[in-house]
Amino acid sequence: MRLLALATLSLSLLAAPLAVAAGDAKHPEHQHWHWDGVFGQFDRGQLQRGFLVYKTVCAACHGMNLLSYRNLGDEGGPEFPEDAVKAIAAGYQVPSLDEDGQPAERPATPADRFKGPHPNEIAARAANNGALPPDLSVIVKARHGGADYIYALLTGYKDAPADMTMGAGMHYNPYFAGGQIAMAAPIASDDLVEYADGTKATKDQMARDVTAFLTWASEPRLEERKKLGVKVMAFTFVFALVLFMAYRRLWRDVPH
Ligand code: HEC
Repeated sequence: MRLLALATLSLSLLAAPLAVAAGDAKHPEHQHWHWDGVFGQFDRGQLQRGFLVYKTVCAACHGMNLLSYRNLGDEGGPEFPEDAVKAIAAGYQVPSLDEDGQPAERPATPADRFKGPHPNEIAARAANNGALPPDLSVIVKARHGGADYIYALLTGYKDAPADMTMGAGMHYNPYFAGGQIAMAAPIASDDLVEYADGTKATKDQMARDVTAFLTWASEPRLEERKKLGVKVMAFTFVFALVLFMAYRRLWRDVPH
């Protein structure tokens, strides 16, 4: 009896993720990413381009309030030079107080958090037809499918199937659960940005680059983690070799 219950339980545990995967959203195709695999690291240039796409396109609606401008210079991230980070920060005005203690504004410094586009959730919804553009700081971790999903979502807009009734102000995207998303295709044409490194800003390129940037934001320690992993594996290998040699030596004169 107990065995049967256990079997049913493990079966239902197995079935649970399948049920989720069988939902109505299209499964994102796996893309090749620079940071894939044991040795995978971010492509510095791609992270810098991705930031430009975020700043120029996405930041009109989405905040990233877990990031500070100084993070753009952090090792393992886009690694913008210090003066570039200062210049980026100085392009934003943040709340401050004047010498009389009255509310004022000052240019942001690298220590400030990314300035969001909306003062609060009500304003954010009011500007977006009632929908809330989520903060993108950890969006890649927060969504099943991670980077593949974000890329698929950005590039997956299509005309709605004829038999689907679309809600007012909604857009068809098969990768979004339910197929109807309140965000219009944000990358709908080429050349929304001009890349400093001469890369051609096609729709696909911009979608990949911003996805890379969002992936770094969600996991800023990815490179550190992978480097440590490689070190641990190398150490384990050498240690196993030494143990094996010690074993051979110890048993050499023992008749067996
Ligand atoms: C004009 C405003 C606007 C712009 C510009 C915009 N978004 Fe959105 N975005 C939204 C809104 C509104 C939602 C919420 C959609 C919903 O819940 O139906 C959203 C949702 C999202 C989501 C979450 C989808 C999910 O699974 O819940 C992601 C990821 C996203 N946007 C990424 C981006 C990226 C990347 C860019 C820049 C390339 C961008 N957005 C530009 C308004 C915008």
